[in-house]
Amino acid sequence: MINYLVTGGAGFIGSSLCDELLKSEGNHIIAIDNFCDFYDVRIKENNIKELIKNPNFKLYRNDIRDKKAITKIFAENNIDIVIHLAAMAGVRSSIENPILYQDVNCMGTQNILEAMKEFNINNLVMASSSSVYGNCRKTPFKEDMIVDYPISPYAATKKANEIMTHVYHKLYNMNVIMLRLFTVYGPRQRPDLAINKFTKLMLADEEIPMYGKGTTSRDYTYISDIVDGIIKASNYCIKNNNIYEILNLGNSFPVTLRKMIDIIRTSFKCKT
Ligand SMILES: NC(=O)c1ccc[n+]([C@@H]2O[C@H](COP(=O)([O-])OP(=O)(O)OC[C@H]3O[C@@H](n4cnc5c(N)ncnc54)[C@H](O)[C@@H]3O)[C@@H](O)[C@H]2O)c1
Repeated sequence: MINYLVTGGAGFIGSSLCDELLKSEGNHIIAIDNFCDFYDVRIKENNIKELIKNPNFKLYRNDIRDKKAITKIFAENNIDIVIHLAAMAGVRSSIENPILYQDVNCMGTQNILEAMKEFNINNLVMASSSSVYGNCRKTPFKEDMIVDYPISPYAATKKANEIMTHVYHKLYNMNVIMLRLFTVYGPRQRPDLAINKFTKLMLADEEIPMYGKGTTSRDYTYISDIVDGIIKASNYCIKNNNIYEILNLGNSFPVTLRKMIDIIRTSFKCKT
């Protein structure tokens, strides 16, 4: 039996992960989410509507910045591993609101780390991001590349998370796995992400806002592969002692924006 604490449990990746974890008998989930309005809260309510019927799923509607509330959650539950996904995500919006990103992603994470320290919880799997690679030109991106030059507040907070979790690993022997996720897509994808946005526009026969010629490319990862990777990382984390690892969770088959749009167009037989 494993008791997971999943932060950001109502979000795109968090809720998909919880669905999968609860398919295995003996797994219990304590989820934390503050249902912030970064995107329509009804989407998040919908993500968890089946989960909350499951007796092995316990939801706390709290903010990870609320130290008192977080301490209380840790005091009330037996936790084997923390899967920390709660964050303000999104590169562009972080440029508009850097203080909020710093507050949630850095101070919120620090509260989680402090609670883990206080309650002697030694296993942490956390979402970092491919955005830490910034303008790195050399591909494929490798975990041991120097990523000291982020180009957005969001990326800077994720890099800061990688550094701060290392401190807790060193000082308190915490097992830490930082997963650098590469743009995740699939059912429940966040509405601010391109595939979701473009599909809606194309289905409504509306024009897609293109910056440049559509030649920029990025790696996309399907949600079930990400969930699988998080679960495998969690099992690895629990079975090991005193580890700190940074892992890319993606592939190396960049798709151009133009190609991505063509694929959506063909799949949905759109005219635009
Ligand atoms: N989706 C991607 O392509 C992608 C890529 C790289 C990294 N990530 C990382 O993966 C994680 C999950 O991303 P997602 O796409 O599921 O995003 P999401 O926004 O759907 O999920 C994040 C969840 O965290 C919650 N949250 C935000 N602030 C909080 C706070 N202060 N207290 C408690 N809960 C809070 C939100 O309400 C949301 O439900 C994030 O850490 C994100 O940075 C995602």
